[in-house]
Amino acid sequence: MKTLHVQIGKRSYPIHIGSGLHGRLPDLLREIGWSRRRPLMLVTDDQVGALYGKDVKRDLTDHGFQVGYLTIPAGESSKRLSLLEEMAGDCIRAGLDRTGAILALGGGVVGDLAGFLAASYMRGIPFVQLPTTLLAHDSSVGGKVGVNHPLGKNMIGAFHQPSMVVFDVETLHTLPEREVASGYAEVVKHALIRDVGFVRWLERQVEDLKRLDPESVSEAIWKGCAVKAEVVSQDEKESGLRAILNYGHTIGHALEAAAGYGSLTHGEAVALGMVGEAMLAEESGLCPPVSERIARLLSAFGLPTRLTLELTDEELLERMRRDKKVRKGKLTFALPRGIGRVDMVDGLEESVIRRALNRLRGGEAG
Ligand SMILES: NC(=O)c1ccc[n+]([C@@H]2O[C@H](COP(=O)([O-])OP(=O)(O)OC[C@H]3O[C@@H](n4cnc5c(N)ncnc54)[C@H](O)[C@@H]3O)[C@@H](O)[C@H]2O)c1
Ligand SMILES: [Zn+2]
Repeated sequence: MKTLHVQIGKRSYPIHIGSGLHGRLPDLLREIGWSRRRPLMLVTDDQVGALYGKDVKRDLTDHGFQVGYLTIPAGESSKRLSLLEEMAGDCIRAGLDRTGAILALGGGVVGDLAGFLAASYMRGIPFVQLPTTLLAHDSSVGGKVGVNHPLGKNMIGAFHQPSMVVFDVETLHTLPEREVASGYAEVVKHALIRDVGFVRWLERQVEDLKRLDPESVSEAIWKGCAVKAEVVSQDEKESGLRAILNYGHTIGHALEAAAGYGSLTHGEAVALGMVGEAMLAEESGLCPPVSERIARLLSAFGLPTRLTLELTDEELLERMRRDKKVRKGKLTFALPRGIGRVDMVDGLEESVIRRALNRLRGGEAG
């Protein structure tokens, strides 16, 4: 088991990563001081629940914990306020009071939704995350929880740090291959924004990582969480530095939305976004040629690096202008300065963005 300590003052917490950790959950909960008297509500989705929910619950009840069980439908559409209200109702009926806590077993959807339930239920109770997707290594650090609004993704939410994260990498073996690749996109992102050594390590480990070798995958998750934790601990509420975590996401979110949610996975859209934004940095003269190396690494993980969907510049630019990250009407991008370093850049000309999009489609450099 590897452990990373996320340092954010009184709200610091450990992230444990390793194979077979679900079986150690009762002990790990005791380590953070949760006694068997604390009533627990295990929240999961129907797919993850069917695979792992019963075992986790049984282990805990065998060790004398009282655990309620709440299942939500799998998928992004569960991240909505009306479902949160139903879930709160289930908690109230189950007698969960202020001394209770939530266990969030699943991917980022369960983490965001159950985390927001924990943030708001009885004005806030603690929660522990049990991530089961690779992408959830991203959502397990930073404390962002929330739901979508019909007018925009993640529009309603809070900052609520988990008390602990327990990442059992054995669960990743049942993830569809496309979801695994998608998760690696965010791992690669964490390497690219902060740590050239981590990038080289990923380049060497791709094959082991793709077959989910427990040692390598635990190391990758540890390193990815470490980068995010370091950035977040310097800027918990996203006033400055934290924005570099949006690398690949300005173009990525535009692609994801314009293609229609579900046609590209989030990681696929971010992979394309990272290549596109690297091209944008090159076109703006902000960094030496890096986009080819970035594309090679992403492609080795099975991620797309050429835009083949028929989306116009206008559609994409319009989406980018509507992005939450637009400040004072200016498009702001997190752009690479080289491998391992990203800076915030604003006020870019639209013509440069068009040139980068053209290259992302496989067109000539400008
Ligand atoms: N809070 C944050 O900082 C943050 C960061 C990144 C992403 N997110 C959010 O995370 C969400 C995406 O997360 P995700 O990609 O984990 O999606 P997800 O939670 O929807 O999981 C993807 C699918 O895989 C299934 N699944 C999960 N684990 C499985 C396993 N081990 N075996 C088999 N199937 C499994 C799920 O049931 C689901 O159908 C988005 O809503 C995004 O906004 C949040
Ligand atoms: Zn992302």
